[in-house]
Amino acid sequence: MLPGSIEWLEDRYEAKTLARRFLERRIPKGISWFHCLGSATLFLLVIQVITGIFLAIYYVPSPEQAYDSVQYITGQVPFGFLVRGIHRWSASLVVVMAVLHMLRVFSMAAYKYPRELTWVAGVFLLLLVMGFGFTGYLLPYDQKAYWATVVGAHLVEKAPYIGPFLNRLVEAGPEPGPLTLSRFYALHTLFLPLFLYTMAGIHVAMVIKQGISAPPLDAPVRAGLAAGQHFLSNAFRGIRSREEYRRAYEASKKDGPNFYEHLLKDAVVALLLLILVIGLTFYLGIPTEERANPADVNYVPRPEWYFYFLFEMLWFFPGDWIVIPTVLIPALGMMALVMLPFVDRGWSWHPIRRPLATAMATMSLTVVLFLTYKGATAPLPPAPTTLSLPPVVFQAEASSPSELGRKVYQQQGCGSCHSIGGVGGQAGPDLSRVGSRRDPDSLRAYIRGPQASNPKSMMPRYNISDEELDALTAYLASLR
Ligand code: HEC
Repeated sequence: MLPGSIEWLEDRYEAKTLARRFLERRIPKGISWFHCLGSATLFLLVIQVITGIFLAIYYVPSPEQAYDSVQYITGQVPFGFLVRGIHRWSASLVVVMAVLHMLRVFSMAAYKYPRELTWVAGVFLLLLVMGFGFTGYLLPYDQKAYWATVVGAHLVEKAPYIGPFLNRLVEAGPEPGPLTLSRFYALHTLFLPLFLYTMAGIHVAMVIKQGISAPPLDAPVRAGLAAGQHFLSNAFRGIRSREEYRRAYEASKKDGPNFYEHLLKDAVVALLLLILVIGLTFYLGIPTEERANPADVNYVPRPEWYFYFLFEMLWFFPGDWIVIPTVLIPALGMMALVMLPFVDRGWSWHPIRRPLATAMATMSLTVVLFLTYKGATAPLPPAPTTLSLPPVVFQAEASSPSELGRKVYQQQGCGSCHSIGGVGGQAGPDLSRVGSRRDPDSLRAYIRGPQASNPKSMMPRYNISDEELDALTAYLASLR
C-alpha cells in the first residue's frame, strides 16, 4: 500500500526524487550543534502556533470573560494546563533561542555575502517575536497584563509627533478596555502570525536556496579541519572575491555530511526543548495573578523579562528625554542590526579580524544583559499602608485648601512612601520642599498620573476627586 502510493506520487510529482535530493544533498563540513539554534527557534514557533490554536478555541477576548476563560482553560479543559503552560514557557524560550541563533550567526559572520537579506529577515523576525510578547501579555487579563499595557501605551505616547496617534492605535481609547483587548487579540492571532509566516518562509527559503552557511574552506583550511582543528582557528584566509567564495563553498561540500545527518541533530535539539518546556510547566507552573482591576491604582506592573532592558533604560532619562530610550535607542539599534551586513562587507569572518563589529556587538550585548539583570533583581515598592503624620508639619490656617490637602495626604497613605519634615517612608523622594522644586501644574499632573509623567514611576495612581486633587496640590505647593 505505502510503497505503491510513493510510486504513485513519484510518477506524478517526482516526490521521491525531490525528497531524496533534498535530504541527501551535501552540506559543508564544519556544521556544528550551534547550527541547530535556527531550527530550534523555528520548532518553538511551530509549537506556539499549535498550542495557540488550541488556546484560541476556548479563549474569549472580552474584559469580562477573558480572565475566566483563561482560568477555565487551565483548570477544566483536558490538557488545558499543559497547553497553556507550553505556550507560556515556549514564548520565553523563543526569545532566548532567537537571540542565541543571532549570536551564532554574528560570531561566524554568516550575515555576509551572499546571505545579507537572510539576516535582515531574521532581524524582522526577532521584532515580530517581541511583538507577540507584548500583545500576548494582555490576553490573560490579570493585574500584570492590564497595568503593563497601561505603561506600554503611555510609553508609545511619548514618541514625537506620532505619539498620541500610536497611543490611540494601541489602546483604542483613553485607557485599556474592550477594544484594546480585541485589538491585541487580533494582532496576536491574525496580523502578527501573517507576517511571521511570510517572514519565516522567506528566511527559511533563503537558507535552503543558498545552503547552510559555513566557513568557506580553502584547501589548507580543509586540511586543518581534517586534522581536527576548529574552523575558526585558521580563519579561511585567502578569499578575496565572490567567485572565490563560491568556489570555496562548493568545495567545502565535497566531503561534507548529508543534510539528513544535520536534521537528525535538529530533531534531537527539538526533542530536548519539548521536554524542557513541559518540565518548566510542571516544575514552575503558570504564574497567575488576580483579575485585572482598573480601579486598583496601587498595582505596580512589570513587563515581560525580555523588555526589562528597555524598561530599565527609562530610569536614566527623566522628563522629555524619555524619547531617547523609548524611540531613539530602539530605532538606532534596529537600524544598526539591519545595516550590519551592508556595512561590514570585508572578506574576513573571524570575530578578531572584524574588530569594530565585534567590539560594538560585545558592548551592546553587555549593556542589554546588565540592564536585564538589573530589571530582574529590581526591588518591588512596598505596599502602601496608612501612616499618620504628626498634627502639624507645616503652618497653615485650618480648613484652608492646603490644610484639607494635608488630610487627603494622610488618608491616601502618601506618607508610607514619602516623608515630610522627617516623618514618613523612604520609598519615594522627600517632599518637605517639593513646592520649591515643582510648580502646582506639574504636581497636579504627577499625582493624577505618575506613569504619564514618568513611565517608570513606582508611584501608584490615585482615584481622587478633583477637589481632593486641588487640595493636595495646594498642600504640596506650600511646602517650600
Ligand atoms: C508606593 C509608594 C508611593 C506612594 C504611596 C506615593 N508615592 Fe509619590 N512617589 C513615589 C516614588 C517612588 C516617587 C519617585 C519617582 C516615581 O517613581 O514616580 C514619587 C514621586 C512623587 C512626586 C514627585 C516628587 C519629585 O520630587 O518630583 C510627588 C509630587 C508625589 N510622589 C506625590 C505623592 C502623593 C501626593 C501621594 C499620595 C497621594 C504619593 N506620592 C504616594 C512613591 C510613592
